Amino acid sequence: MTSVNELYQTMHEKLKDVVPDVELKYKAEIAYEINRLKVEKNAVILGHNYMEPALFHSIPDITGDSLALSREAAKTEKDIIVFCGVQFMAETAKILNPNKKVLIPSDKAGCSLAESISAADVRLLRERFPGVPIVAYVNTYADVKAEVDICCTSGNAVAVVNSLDSDSIIFLPDQYLAHNIANETGKKIIFPEVVNNTLQVPDGDFQMIGWTGKCEVHEKFTVSDIDTVRAQFPEVVIVTHPECSPEVVAASDFSGSTTAMINYVEQSNAPHYLVLTECSMGDNIAAANPDKDLLRLCMVRCPHMNTITMEDTLAALRNEQYEVEVPEDIRIRAARSVERMIAIG
Ligand code: 13P
Ligand code: SF4
Repeated sequence: MTSVNELYQTMHEKLKDVVPDVELKYKAEIAYEINRLKVEKNAVILGHNYMEPALFHSIPDITGDSLALSREAAKTEKDIIVFCGVQFMAETAKILNPNKKVLIPSDKAGCSLAESISAADVRLLRERFPGVPIVAYVNTYADVKAEVDICCTSGNAVAVVNSLDSDSIIFLPDQYLAHNIANETGKKIIFPEVVNNTLQVPDGDFQMIGWTGKCEVHEKFTVSDIDTVRAQFPEVVIVTHPECSPEVVAASDFSGSTTAMINYVEQSNAPHYLVLTECSMGDNIAAANPDKDLLRLCMVRCPHMNTITMEDTLAALRNEQYEVEVPEDIRIRAARSVERMIAIG
């Protein structure tokens, strides 16, 4: 196994421009112990693209966006999955691996989108729009996934919508992602209002029915932020996550999943980039592309992703905490929606 010093050297090589050396030395020791326990306990660590740079570059066996990590979770043969991401991601891993132990390093890693809709809300939609297929963003909890027909991530949302042979579809819970997908697929979208436990549906034609959940991080980016940065750096290329508002997406140069944004920066050549998403990912892109100038708006952080630390990941492996559980009746129904999603490109 790699020694602490070798681990530190590797981290230093990748992160010297992004993380102070004193922090790297401290984190290399934690990473060494995590990697030792990982082997001893036959565990795999999955790390979302939003993990902080020292964690991202030292302990995950696999890194990626939610779609890639769901796929990897479905394939693993290890006994324990440690998910360095948020609760709905770890839950998805458990849905696909009922007989494995799935751990998440923090019990506070929620998500404003997952909180924005309940299973009862989905039943209300199903009652009001019988026969209309329901797509749930993977950023939902297992009981919501159990009520819908198929899941999607930002990486395959258009493909999932296009795969459904229906005049209209319900897409929940992210208002902005739904609107961006409606724009991309040429559909008119409406957002019913819940009043006294009934749905008020606007008049007129529509092909998509959305919900009004929002990501508390991406909703904060504005067109005025983009205009200000473009005024200061006229040649900047701006990449956004589709959880941003349709106006922000329209004002940007490229929009895609977290991995699609990483690939876009890596494969293009601009004098400056502004990556409008969780700030840590900007650090990870900067570390992997030392020749590129990455601008970030770091006043906006995901408080949930940021609860996942290396110290807590070590505690998770040592104490086998916090174990993710999904009741079996819910898991079986949720698995159908997740497996349908994984089968689509
Ligand atoms: P990705 O599916 O693009 O990785 O995004 C997940 C997420 O929570 C973004 O805020
Ligand atoms: Fe949820 Fe937004 Fe955080 Fe992603 S960035 S985990 S959507 S709150």
